[in-house]
Amino acid sequence: MNIDPELGKITLRQPDDWHLHLRDGELMKHVLPATASIFRRAIVMPNLNPPIASIQAANEYRKRILSSIPKGVSFTPLMTAYLTDNSSSAVLEKGYREGVFVAAKLYPANSTTNSEEGVSDLRNIDSVFETMERIGMPLLIHGEVTDTEIDIFDREAAFIERCLVPLLVSFPELKVVLEHITTEDAVQFVKQSSSKIAATITAHHLHINRNAMFNGGLRSDFYCLPVAKREHHRLALRKAATSGLPCFFLGTDSAPHERRMKESSCGCAGIFSAPFAIQSYAEVFDQEGALDRLESFSSEFGAIFYGMPLNQSSITLIKKPHLVPDVYPLKSESNFLVPFHAGETLNWTVSEQ
Ligand code: DOR
Ligand code: ZN
Repeated sequence: MNIDPELGKITLRQPDDWHLHLRDGELMKHVLPATASIFRRAIVMPNLNPPIASIQAANEYRKRILSSIPKGVSFTPLMTAYLTDNSSSAVLEKGYREGVFVAAKLYPANSTTNSEEGVSDLRNIDSVFETMERIGMPLLIHGEVTDTEIDIFDREAAFIERCLVPLLVSFPELKVVLEHITTEDAVQFVKQSSSKIAATITAHHLHINRNAMFNGGLRSDFYCLPVAKREHHRLALRKAATSGLPCFFLGTDSAPHERRMKESSCGCAGIFSAPFAIQSYAEVFDQEGALDRLESFSSEFGAIFYGMPLNQSSITLIKKPHLVPDVYPLKSESNFLVPFHAGETLNWTVSEQ
């Protein structure tokens, strides 16, 4: 990594996105370039409808992604298996050993977008966890309970206490990534856990607290799951991301939903951060006086956790203010995405050379 404070220029190892929603079909074709032009690899979430739960479905989805990568761009999608109550240990083991699945994703049933077929009780798939622990296959977790009596802002903390702690008592060698953490509780938990436990942190949870959803009116653009929490949680996440601890690494959770799906009587959860993600993280690391730790967070710790080689290519960021557009166009004018930071000025730009 090379930082030139005089010129406001940083060259860093090319980053990877360890948590991404690429969707499928036309939408995927539109959003994929935003990620593939910056990130070398990405862990692709399997919550399509129907979910990616078989080796064949993952192989076909990967082919569709590969055929949509813009010419001249090197990008590797890393596929994941969607866990259901009926997941088969044999299929997961085969898919992992064949290099089709890099990890498996646990969505508690009805916790978020397309999670209806997720796991209704973790005990239903004990044999799957046993297999994953044995073969070293990482378990990626959407860590929220879904019980309606638990306040939505407490669902992550409740998941850690009620589900994750017992799971790790039963399977102490299981490799786990607690995805898109949003609370001080999760930061503390991951920090005091073994090196088998890590967490991804999104750019949006480093920038916004829960007020963003209610700022002068109802703002669905800032609605995601897990929802942003109180300010002290955001500050704990910023400290964790910039700490230099290898258990925290980059995962954008960029989750595009067309405008009409966000602005409806029941708007979808998700923030589309892919187009300005690395710039958004750079802003945070700059504000925290930790630019020298941006590279390890965005380009090294994730690969090390997953046991993958570090990227040899690099990207350059320049301190040059630019306005984030209000709209990320899709095929028709009436149908578009709103990128995270829309209408705001960000201070870091990706150099074209
Ligand atoms: O905000 C979110 N959007 N959180 C998730 O867990 C899923 C994602 C999506 O797929 O839209
Ligand atoms: Zn996600």
